[in-house]
Amino acid sequence: TPRVFSGVQPTGNLHLGNYLGAVRRFVAMQDEYPCIYCVVDLHAITVWQDPVELTQATHNVTAAYLAAGIDPKRSIVFNQSRVTAHAELAWIFNCVARMGWLNRMTQFKEKAGKDRENASAGLFVYPNLMAADILAYQATHVPVGEDQKQHLELTRDIAQKFNHDYSERLASLGYGEDGMFPMTEPIIQGPATRVMSLRDGSKKMSKSEASDASRINLTDDADMIAQKIRKAKTDPEPLPSELKGLEGRAEADNLVGIYAALANTTKDAVLAQYGGQGFSAFKPALAELAVEVLAPMNDEMRRLVADPGHLDAVLADGAARANEIAAPILHDVKRVVGFVT
Ligand code: TYM
Repeated sequence: TPRVFSGVQPTGNLHLGNYLGAVRRFVAMQDEYPCIYCVVDLHAITVWQDPVELTQATHNVTAAYLAAGIDPKRSIVFNQSRVTAHAELAWIFNCVARMGWLNRMTQFKEKAGKDRENASAGLFVYPNLMAADILAYQATHVPVGEDQKQHLELTRDIAQKFNHDYSERLASLGYGEDGMFPMTEPIIQGPATRVMSLRDGSKKMSKSEASDASRINLTDDADMIAQKIRKAKTDPEPLPSELKGLEGRAEADNLVGIYAALANTTKDAVLAQYGGQGFSAFKPALAELAVEVLAPMNDEMRRLVADPGHLDAVLADGAARANEIAAPILHDVKRVVGFVT
């Protein structure tokens, strides 16, 4: 049975990359699949989080989910630490995944930086917890941005090794050829799977970038959004009429991709409309579109965050429903492994 799972870390402000690469696509998937959307607080503490800020950020991500259009009645919205299956299955996966696999993870290398000796052990095993998030629900589809691709490959490796290592046991418990964990498919689609910094087209838009002008935060108001787009780095050439013409023009490519994602269209269609025009015409159009999409969401987020009691109720209800799915799966995993349950 198809099932969607995805998550966002409650660390700092969500930005346009998180929205276009992930959350906006979460919304669309609700029409096709049963969906589970998690606020991954266990992942957040792999680097130090101030406790008060972690609580606020958890509310902020929840508010962003709802404001973007995730319906908490149709979909399951909850915070990860509330459903113990995540941490329990992650431990089992710590014993399935190999050190060599984790050593190849580029995100660990980036996040740990030079001082690797001083990175938390949790940051190293982060991808195992992510595999647990997904496989605790036997999820088949995971919408994410491009930067999560390697982690999803690892998830498949873990699923495959578990299915293989326990194949005899699984067969004796009545599982078929495919074992108990699905080969989850990453859904990395659309024109904005990797939104780049507004100041440097070679860098990903990110929460951790020092310059606030490099990103559009979902908390930015209309003036701020327009100003950041106006000041975005570009080249002096007009836009090309065909995709090919964006090659080697990272900043132009990025703005066209952002426009296409906000307008629910393709980069081709945007170029068909704006090809031949300069940024003095394109930027105001992009700013207007961005404000049209983001400002109402921003208002709704503010309204939601002002009522944390409501957000807590949504998360509690979601956690109870998530647990109903994950608990029996985890119970089966324990039997497969041979734990006395
Ligand atoms: P996180 O919190 O860093 O980012 C949340 C989502 O936003 C996407 N994203 C981007 N997409 C396009 N352009 C960008 N510049 C950009 N920056 C971020 C990310 O790809 C992600 O989809 N490990 C995950 C959270 C996670 C998860 C999971 C995801 C934990 N467990 C299980 C899927 C399934 C993360 O750190 O995302």
